[in-house]
Amino acid sequence: MSSGPHIQIFDTTLRDGEQCPGAAMTGRQKLEVARQLARLGVDIIEAGFPIASRGDFDSVQEIARTVRGPVICGLARCVNADIDAAGAAVKPAGKKGRIHVFLGTSKIHRDFKLGKARHEILRLTTDGVRRARRFTSNVEFSPEDASRTEIDFLVEVVEAAISAGATTINLPDTTGYAAPEEYSNMFAQVIAQARGSANAVFSTHCHNDLGLAVANSLAAVQAGARQVECTLNGIGERAGNAALEEVVMALHTRADFFAHAHTNIQTREIVRTSRLVSAACGFPIPRNKAIVGLNAFAHSSGIHQDGILKKRETYEIIDPEIVGWGKTELPLTKHSGRAAVFARLKHLGYTLRPTELQAVFIRFKEIGDRKKFVHDDDLTSLVGAQIHVARETYSLESLACQSGTGRKPVATITLRHGRKILSAQGSGDGVVDSVMKTIDRITGLKGHLLDYSVRAVTEGKDAVGEVSLNVRFATKGEPASGRAAATDVIESSGRAYLAAVNRWLAEGGRVSSKTRSTLASP
Ligand code: KIV
Ligand code: ZN
Repeated sequence: MSSGPHIQIFDTTLRDGEQCPGAAMTGRQKLEVARQLARLGVDIIEAGFPIASRGDFDSVQEIARTVRGPVICGLARCVNADIDAAGAAVKPAGKKGRIHVFLGTSKIHRDFKLGKARHEILRLTTDGVRRARRFTSNVEFSPEDASRTEIDFLVEVVEAAISAGATTINLPDTTGYAAPEEYSNMFAQVIAQARGSANAVFSTHCHNDLGLAVANSLAAVQAGARQVECTLNGIGERAGNAALEEVVMALHTRADFFAHAHTNIQTREIVRTSRLVSAACGFPIPRNKAIVGLNAFAHSSGIHQDGILKKRETYEIIDPEIVGWGKTELPLTKHSGRAAVFARLKHLGYTLRPTELQAVFIRFKEIGDRKKFVHDDDLTSLVGAQIHVARETYSLESLACQSGTGRKPVATITLRHGRKILSAQGSGDGVVDSVMKTIDRITGLKGHLLDYSVRAVTEGKDAVGEVSLNVRFATKGEPASGRAAATDVIESSGRAYLAAVNRWLAEGGRVSSKTRSTLASP
């Protein structure tokens, strides 16, 4: 056991992470991720921004009700309605509920965003923290854009928050502007100068606009921060947040340098959690991503391979097994039964409902028929696509396409809509376009494809192709995302488009989009 300070890991994958464009997760997916975060051993889960939408409120409440272990936190601006919503959402967590209140404090935020003078910011800070304390004794306060706030004023704000009852003070580098030494100096000064600082835990929250989020977080730890806010795979607003796996493994690997600071993270769960998050939000993990990328432990040069064979530590600073790159399980095949598939899903970190298990099993069999081996990544992709679906208004019965050089592509599609079976044929610019236009013809919707990507989930010509896309179905309103996996990329495209249609219909047109983007500005 290490003798150094304990660093709390505050995971904001479900809040700041989910704020990154295209990473929206359904409530169901968020619950799966939250359960895995608990197994990973994070201390705090920031589950969402309850005032932003009914969906956010419900998912924070559901996580507070069902996930045990970590503290469950809801974000709020210094606005009564936000704080009340966050208080209600985290209530089921009881003593483990936290409200995180934030308010812009830098001159640029005061003058241009809020139109408030310093004394008004101080009053709002006090009022906001006091109101949050009515719901819970666990209150975090963030002076937003702390790293660009005048230091004397930052100290005043922090003192006001602590004396109003904040127990955690987070000093975010909201715009990813700070340099490590500068950021650590800010922590050192605030901790030394703010009255009452000994009664609060100081926290770091860094964005990656200059690629410095992890370096800045670690610099803050050296200056006294005892909580690090981060996300899996570094997802988050714009260029993202500090990556949890990098912060944790830097502290772990360089315990000698970081005064033996340690976390509660079960490092062997890191890779599994990273994949679950990637599948849930549809953001592939870059091959060269530290710790969790496919190349993170791949050695290609002969000199390196030779060194590794002689002694692993010559070129490897982390034992891959410590972060969960254990031995690969035997792949499943079409002959694998329900028990084997369900056991593998459990091993991958999923707690699925019986109906979801059944749906994944059906898709597993379909893929098993076309592919010799079904790998863990195939399965993760299938589940990701399956629980991405909100409620299936339309389901795919069959899809056939004709295309070829110099031929007009034609798609023939049959969908089920309740008890009705609906078929149509259509053509467009290429096969994928034909499929989408034909689905539009059946549903009566008119989707505008905003982005589309396809990736091979595993190696080989028979690899499962996973399609992720975003579609706008109305001029006003948020785009709907869809994801699907199949060995045939045209089929994945049709299924992903249909998933977006279903999501759009299930969410009733998403009128909340505008509100959401204005509210969720941090
Ligand atoms: O980046 C930021 O400042 C935030 C706050 C809400 C902490 O996300
Ligand atoms: Zn942030």
